Amino acid sequence: MDRLFPRRDDAKVSHVPAADNAGFASTILEDILSSLSRNSRIIGTRNPMVGGHNDSIWRYPDNGYFWTDSFFTGELWLAFMVTGQSEFRNFARMRITHLERLLHTPLWLSHDLGFLYSLSAVADFKLTRSPEARRLALQAADALRARFNWAGNYILAWTADGQSPEHASRVQAKMIIDSVQNLPLLLWAYEETGIDSYRDVALRHADSLTKYIVRSDFSTYHTFDFDPASGRPVGGKTWQGRADESCWSRGQAWAIHGFAQLAEITGDLRLHDLAAKLADHALAQLGPDHVPVWDYRLPEGAEPIKDSSAGSITSAGLFIIADIYQRTADVERASHYRNAALGMLQGLRENHDLTGDPAAQGLLGAGASDVPRAERSGDMYLTSAMLPYGDYYYFEAVLRALGHREFFWH
Ligand code: GLY
Repeated sequence: MDRLFPRRDDAKVSHVPAADNAGFASTILEDILSSLSRNSRIIGTRNPMVGGHNDSIWRYPDNGYFWTDSFFTGELWLAFMVTGQSEFRNFARMRITHLERLLHTPLWLSHDLGFLYSLSAVADFKLTRSPEARRLALQAADALRARFNWAGNYILAWTADGQSPEHASRVQAKMIIDSVQNLPLLLWAYEETGIDSYRDVALRHADSLTKYIVRSDFSTYHTFDFDPASGRPVGGKTWQGRADESCWSRGQAWAIHGFAQLAEITGDLRLHDLAAKLADHALAQLGPDHVPVWDYRLPEGAEPIKDSSAGSITSAGLFIIADIYQRTADVERASHYRNAALGMLQGLRENHDLTGDPAAQGLLGAGASDVPRAERSGDMYLTSAMLPYGDYYYFEAVLRALGHREFFWH
C-alpha cells in the first residue's frame, strides 16, 4: 500500500552521514552493543523495570507486568538492526507470549500500549516482515484506539484497578503527556491498513494535548483531568512531578520527542514548531552538565536530583527537530538543535554512562523514576537508578547522532 501521509523527501535514506562532531557516539555505540551482548544472556526472558541504585542490577515487575516491559526489547531490536546478529532478534522474540497475554489482561491495558508494542511487535514486523508480529501490533492499536473518549477527545491514560473507588475516581477521565509517545502506533496502523479511525483518534488526542497539557510558556502539565460525564476540560494535575503547576522534566521530554515525531510522520510543521518551543523551554533550564534535574521548577534549596532518562529522551527528540529543520533548509536552526542534542548526549556519557563497568546490567545511572513516591515510601530505587526507558532512548539518540533515521515508531 502507498503511504497515506506525505512521504519525507528522503525517506528511502535510512542512514545519513553523521556530523563531524558526533565521533564520540561511535564509541558509545560499541560500548552499548557489548553491554547488550553480555546482559541479554543474564536478563533472559525477563523485562527490566528499574535497578541499580547501589548495585547496577535490574529489578523486574513482581506482579508480572509493568508499562516498561518493552524498552529492553526495543534495545535488542535496535541491536539486531545495526548488527544483523540473530541472537539479538531471538532474545527480543522471547517476549511474544508475554505480549499476547498482556493484550488479553484487561486490567493491564493503558495508554502505554504504544511503548509496549511499537518497540516489540512493530519492530519485529519492520525488520523481519513477520505476519504474526503485524497481527499483534494491529491488535494493540485496536486496544489503544478503544480507549478514546469521543466526548472529551482524549485517550484515557490509565485503567481503574477494580479495587478502590478512590483510584477509579482519580483515573476515570484523565489524559497524560506520556501518551504522545503512543500515538505513532495508531499512525503506523493507519498507514498499514488505511483505516481512518486510527489516524483520527491519534490526531484528535494530539490536538487535545496541545490545547490542555501544553501551557502558554511551552512548559507542560503531567496529566489533565476531564469531567467524566460531559468530557469538559477540568484542569492539570501532576502525578510524578513536584506540583501540579511544576514542569516534570521527563514529561517535557516525552512532549519534545513525541511532537517532533508526530511532525515527522504527518508532515505538519506546526507540530514541529511546537516541539522546538517545548525544547527551547527545556534547554533554558539546563546546567553546565546538560543533564536535566527531575523537575524544572524545583523550589529554592530543593535537592537537584538528576533524571538521566529525561536527558536521553530529550536528546533523541532534539535530533528529530534538527533533522526536520535540515529538510526545510533552515541550516542554522538544524545545527543549533543538533548541537544541543550532542551536548546532552555528551553530558550523559561523561556523568552517567555505566557501560565501562562489566557488572552493570544497564547503560545509564541517575534515572529518577518517581521522586514523590520515593519520598513517600523511602524506596531509593525510585530516585537514582537505571531505567530501561532511559537506556532505550540513549541508544536511539546515539544512533540518531550517527545518522540513523529509521526506527520502529512508524
Ligand atoms: N509515567 C511514565 C514515566 O514514568 O515516564
